[in-house]
Amino acid sequence: MNVREAINKRRSIRKFKPDPVSDDLLLQLLDSARLAPSGSNTQPWRFIVVKDTDTRQRLQTASYNQRHVGQAPAIIACCADIKAFGEFPERIDELIAAGALPAKTREVFVPSLKKGGMSADMKWHLLIAATGNTDIAIEHIVLQAVELGLGTCWVRWFDDNKVKEILEIPNDIEIIALLPVGYPAEEPSQRPRFDLKKIVYYEKYEAS
Ligand SMILES: Cc1cc2nc3c(=O)[nH]c(=O)nc-3n(C[C@H](O)[C@H](O)[C@H](O)COP(=O)(O)O)c2cc1C
Repeated sequence: MNVREAINKRRSIRKFKPDPVSDDLLLQLLDSARLAPSGSNTQPWRFIVVKDTDTRQRLQTASYNQRHVGQAPAIIACCADIKAFGEFPERIDELIAAGALPAKTREVFVPSLKKGGMSADMKWHLLIAATGNTDIAIEHIVLQAVELGLGTCWVRWFDDNKVKEILEIPNDIEIIALLPVGYPAEEPSQRPRFDLKKIVYYEKYEAS
């Protein structure tokens, strides 16, 4: 299956077979997430794999009882650690060593970050960055799952505090999405999408 085929085939799956997903397949999904791009290679994503039946049921309850959450044999709780940005100088050094960035990057970027400190504004920007970066990694999982014959569904409608309590997630870690994973028990048709002409402009933004 090539990338375009996976993109075409992917659907949000909300009915799963009870068959378990092997650890090997789950690792393949997580390894696809690991290879996602991130700003300055900060890799702020963190994942919790949940297979325990009782925990999955509690996560379903915390997700306003969305049944596909508990029905899937595994849930990947996808989180972002904003503290990953504190390791920014190390990541820049690695990128320089790998030949991805010129050596002068360190003198330009690292002091400018330190000088600014961690203002509330900066924290807000880092939170947006951490969320965006983790979203990319999650979609890597989602598309890899299609190739492996698995189904997933992004779930972002949940009670954040309850999920944190169930999974013992510290307060400074953001939960970006819950991703139920399993073998699909449904084959939905493609969901509606906007036409390209509604979403693509050329040369300048076209206000409607
Ligand atoms: C960020 C995000 C959050 C979502 N949250 C939920 C959710 O909480 N529950 C759910 O059933 N689907 C959720 N979805 C799935 C969307 O409803 C779905 O992607 C959209 O309706 C298009 O359908 P498709 O994914 O099958 O193409 C979410 C999708 C995204 C990208």
